[in-house]
Amino acid sequence: MALTESDIQNVLKTITDPNTGKDYVSSKSARNIQIKGNDLSLDIVLGYPAKSVIAEIQAQVKSALEHIPGIGSVTVNVGSRIVSHSVQRGVQLLPGVKNIIAVASGKGGVGKTTSSAAFGTGLALRGFKTCIIDFDVGLRNLDLIMGCERRVVFDFINVINGEARLSQALIKDKRVENLYILPTSQTRDKDALTPEGVGKILDELKKEFDYILCDSPAGIEKGALMALYWADHAIIVTNPEVSSVRDSDRILGVIQAKSRRAEQGLEPVKEHLLVTRYDPERVEKGEMLKVEDVLEILAIPLLGIVPESPAVLKASNVGMPVVLDDKSNAGQAYGDAVGRFLGETIEHRFIKPEKKGFLDRLLRRTA
Ligand SMILES: Nc1ncnc2c1ncn2[C@@H]1O[C@H](COP(=O)(O)OP(=O)(O)O)[C@@H](O)[C@H]1O
Ligand SMILES: [Mg+2]
Repeated sequence: MALTESDIQNVLKTITDPNTGKDYVSSKSARNIQIKGNDLSLDIVLGYPAKSVIAEIQAQVKSALEHIPGIGSVTVNVGSRIVSHSVQRGVQLLPGVKNIIAVASGKGGVGKTTSSAAFGTGLALRGFKTCIIDFDVGLRNLDLIMGCERRVVFDFINVINGEARLSQALIKDKRVENLYILPTSQTRDKDALTPEGVGKILDELKKEFDYILCDSPAGIEKGALMALYWADHAIIVTNPEVSSVRDSDRILGVIQAKSRRAEQGLEPVKEHLLVTRYDPERVEKGEMLKVEDVLEILAIPLLGIVPESPAVLKASNVGMPVVLDDKSNAGQAYGDAVGRFLGETIEHRFIKPEKKGFLDRLLRRTA
């Protein structure tokens, strides 16, 4: 009996995506079903970035289809469909994607909060419902950089302590759809951050958000450990300087030892390196480390290189994440980093000094 597309659909209806709980037919993930004789090929297109689960889904679908009596070879291609913001408007993403991203560093002042704001905004611009949480209790920088400091009524600590509901503390960004900020307290002490308290809130957020970005304090103080403990991904922010790189190396060790994933023997936290405040001219002069040098010490995948740029200060002065300044090189670099995180292949830019214009060279010569 010849195989039909509906035979294949019937099998696909019985297996569910482990990340969304939906079967591959009702989620419209199964596409391009091709039957040649007894051989079958199809695509599974996921509505979320899913590099880490591609192999698992491929094996699951393949083995289910191979049980069809008389079937020949089965080829399953799994990929993600990343939809741009404008197309995405009004379309719901598949629920249930759980991605907690900790933004961490060994040293302070390297650009974690700048990066959390820019990266989180970048994810929201791509249509992902994103929440950025400020874990740096006592400093409260994130709401300033996001330009929502006047709208803070309740904060993360209030919610942990049961003094406010999560919905009362979440601030919805006025510029970018799908973007929310959970500010922290400027005055309370850090002891309020307990693993249970933080875990409960993250669980609640996970029901609603595609990505939760945790802006950590530097080093391994309590707030940082809390953010790292629950993380699925860690973005390690590093400046091209020896001390910053060394301290980042130490943090990598902590992540692999003290995260929930390590504790429970799960797949390790995915590490990403974000080199910030990169000044190609100073690198050429040997005053800063080259990207290659940084990568030699921190052997983790490079998510992006953000150049030193006056646009960062300008943006933070007006409470705007720099990624919204898409004319600036720093803004573009963050946009690229988001694309890479979502699985796109994007060449690194801003590594070489900008070519000086004729006038500029002339002025330099006479200066
Ligand atoms: N790419 C960059 N170019 C220029 N200045 C930057 C850049 N990234 C961060 N900064 C500046 O560095 C300082 C520290 O940044 P911040 O994001 O608060 O770091 P952290 O959260 O790691 O302490 C801020 O004054 C910020 O404006
Ligand atoms: Mg900070």
